[in-house]
Amino acid sequence: MRPSPRLAVVGIPGNRRVTLFQEAARAGGLADVRAVPWLDVLRGRARFLPGEWVRIESPGEDPLVDRELRGMDDAARVEGTARWYERFVRAARSVAELTGDAGATLLDDPDELAVLFDKRRCHGVLREAGVPVPDSPTSGDSAPRVRGWDDVRALESPGLRRMFVKLAHGSSASGVLAVETAGGGRVQATTSVERDDQGRLFNSLRVRRYATEREVAALVDALAPDGLHIERWVPKASQRGRSADLRVVVVAGRATHAVVRTSRSPMTNLHLGGARGDLAAARAATEAAGGSWTGMLELGERAAACFPGSLRVGVDVLPTTGWRRFAVGEVNAFGDLLPGLTGLPGSGAEGQDTYAAQIAAIHRAADPGRRRNVHRATA
Ligand SMILES: Nc1ncnc2c1ncn2[C@@H]1O[C@H](COP(=O)(O)OP(=O)(O)O)[C@@H](O)[C@H]1O
Ligand SMILES: [Mg+2]
Repeated sequence: MRPSPRLAVVGIPGNRRVTLFQEAARAGGLADVRAVPWLDVLRGRARFLPGEWVRIESPGEDPLVDRELRGMDDAARVEGTARWYERFVRAARSVAELTGDAGATLLDDPDELAVLFDKRRCHGVLREAGVPVPDSPTSGDSAPRVRGWDDVRALESPGLRRMFVKLAHGSSASGVLAVETAGGGRVQATTSVERDDQGRLFNSLRVRRYATEREVAALVDALAPDGLHIERWVPKASQRGRSADLRVVVVAGRATHAVVRTSRSPMTNLHLGGARGDLAAARAATEAAGGSWTGMLELGERAAACFPGSLRVGVDVLPTTGWRRFAVGEVNAFGDLLPGLTGLPGSGAEGQDTYAAQIAAIHRAADPGRRRNVHRATA
């Protein structure tokens, strides 16, 4: 056996994502994982070592990094995601160049990150691959761009009376609106976005409803300069009276972990009052409705297969009413922060959390006897 690779992680040193990965590597018998601060990458000070295997982690939740990327001091502010995207992708590409020059191996492909962090492009890639996704008039690179509420109204169709309007480069439900339009000009939106009297946008921890077209239009017009993605609102299945979806983590091509997320609001994000639901009950409901649970997990794998250069992704799977069918809501590059969650039975990651499963994939790939590609469990 070849000696195990030395790992480095580009991230926010000391934060949970980096620490959990470092701990998993240590528990898996690997040498200490070197943390390369995002700030060093952004300031042109990052260096990589020959032979090193380099993971890219989220640059989120650090005020200095956020200021560099988004040009915004206040983490609660919503604006700046177009600039964030442009700088983040440029920085990820610089990591690819530096690792290439150093003879290091990158575990996360920056071109894929560029798709994953653009909801329009991600939707287009999934759609073209035949992965079921909610209908969208903004899918892909050639779709019309939405410049404000008037464009949203112009794109409206019978299938889009209920729609999600999202920031193209948003995450954590920032800038996400669940919009309902009805006859007689009635419009309402459910969202955590708030607009102050100077027109500035803030993320709130409270989900609220705006019930006039004037208010909804003002929000959408303020969000639009950063780019918007629109989708049909899929009527989601429920669990104990709360709307539900699934997060499926795919490591090296295999669906290894899954959780149900439930919420009283149409958004299931945990910081907005979402909670982990009952996975066994979701499976039972799917099978009772004549659906296939393995088919659902395979759907996650098909979505992940669109990103073959990413060691792990987190797929948001939307179950339709009655748990009969599934569609992919989005694919998250850094969707594996699910501390304490162990692997699915039969996945090969039983007893492992999402980080331990990735360390196991790295071990398999480093073993020349098995000749495996790090990104593909079965290659
Ligand atoms: N088309 C849709 N139909 C129904 N629910 C949706 C749809 N798109 C998103 N959601 C819900 O809204 C939440 C946030 O949307 P998502 O696209 O995942 O944005 P983010 O990247 O901010 O998490 C998801 O958890 C999901 O439950
Ligand atoms: Mg999401």
